[in-house]
Amino acid sequence: MRERSLLCIVLAAGEGTRMMSATPKVLHPIGHRSMIGHVLSSVGLAGAAHVAVVVGPGQADRSGPTVGAEVARLNPQAEVYVQTDRLGTAHAVLQARSLLENPDDDVVIIFGDTPLIRPETIAALRTPLAEGAAVAVLGFRAANPKGYGRLLERNGQLIAIREENDASETEKAVNLCNAGLMALAGSHAIALLDAIGNVNAKGEYYLTDAVELANSRGLSAIAIETSEDEVRGVNTRAQLAEAEAVFQSRMRARAMAGGATLLAPETVYFSADTTLGRDVVIEPNVVFGPGVAVADNVTIRAFSHLEGAQVSEGATLGPYARLRPGARIGEGAHIGNFVEIKQANVEKGAKVNHLTYIGDARVGAGANIGAGTITCNYDGFLKHHTDIGSGAFVGSNSSLVAPVKIGDGAYIGSGSVITTDVPADALAVSRPKQSNLEGYGARLRRKLAAAKAAKQK
Ligand code: UD1
Ligand code: CA
Repeated sequence: MRERSLLCIVLAAGEGTRMMSATPKVLHPIGHRSMIGHVLSSVGLAGAAHVAVVVGPGQADRSGPTVGAEVARLNPQAEVYVQTDRLGTAHAVLQARSLLENPDDDVVIIFGDTPLIRPETIAALRTPLAEGAAVAVLGFRAANPKGYGRLLERNGQLIAIREENDASETEKAVNLCNAGLMALAGSHAIALLDAIGNVNAKGEYYLTDAVELANSRGLSAIAIETSEDEVRGVNTRAQLAEAEAVFQSRMRARAMAGGATLLAPETVYFSADTTLGRDVVIEPNVVFGPGVAVADNVTIRAFSHLEGAQVSEGATLGPYARLRPGARIGEGAHIGNFVEIKQANVEKGAKVNHLTYIGDARVGAGANIGAGTITCNYDGFLKHHTDIGSGAFVGSNSSLVAPVKIGDGAYIGSGSVITTDVPADALAVSRPKQSNLEGYGARLRRKLAAAKAAKQK
């Protein structure tokens, strides 16, 4: 049998006023990915052949901090339609009329502010269509159903969705609610949508009316259920935080299912794009910013913060390691406490164990960087590169003033300020020579003690 094709229409024309934000609501992030990004990702994984996003006035512009720009960045093939007047969810869907007139087999409508929806659920919603239904609606059992449309069923058929403002007391007692996702058979979609009117409490064109219309035309409508967590809508900052919490617990579960040990999962924070290998151990209070990939057998000790970093197999990080964008940590390398690495390659087996800043640099394989080493990479105007050869040994408390190159196997005496290149296997020391004055310590002590006694008299 031929696979059914899918058009997804994402509604994102709402103003999101309750976010109290200059940023459009669906651009607010969860796990460092915009809400619309989460929805588009699920839609993509669900195999949508066509994607349309309906945005509000001024949001279609492909440049600038707009919804349209984010959509173009994430899915350049997606169509963006503007809904100038916000006349309701059915009216919003009809902005994609050009796609609906020549529709795919299935049309799935999703809200842009329901970011936790999973691709499996989009697939499940299509099953009734494959079995002959014209409409399928995603429902959930609401702990507090107030404000949601209620799903009214009879004999396994969905007969209507009643909005809160239009519901009778008996209908209000129903706790099976409309999550906002609806699947329409492409062959019936435009006819049903065009038939929807706006005679209701809000005077809006309700998408939900498609259910009663389908029933009146002898077509079948079906509800399927999912968990409330999956369909949490985000209208406020508090709900954004709730959605973030659900997302983080999903990411933790996924990490553990994939073979990572999380000692205190509830204290580890992931980004949507974090990838972990097997047998990774993550201690408490580790934060993953965007763009982190961790290979197998890596240990990340407590209180480390990683962002834009690649960590190769068998490396150990932290406690209190900070990896910033462009950090690449080689196989088996050690990055210790209070070490910051930015835009630098730390090659295989190198050790940077304590209190160090490595920026715009290469640390060659097996090199050892002593405590308190600083690459002085910035002169106030430009960034410069430091190259440390393999097997080099940099003594503690050294400043490497870039641009500078330290050859393979070279030694740097501790406390040095290195401003010129050091040849391979050389020893470089740049600090005043030490002089020992015999007996001067005792003499100084006597003199100071006498001065104190004279003062106390
Ligand atoms: C809607 C449903 C309700 C469901 C609830 C789930 C309808 C009529 N009601 O109600 O049954 O329980 O969601 O959260 O569909 N939008 C537009 N253009 C518009 C109107 C809305 O793009 O003209 C978008 C909004 O940006 C939002 C979504 O559609 O993403 C839902 O709109 P909203 O006004 O929040 O609907 P609810 O009243 O919450
Ligand atoms: Ca809503």
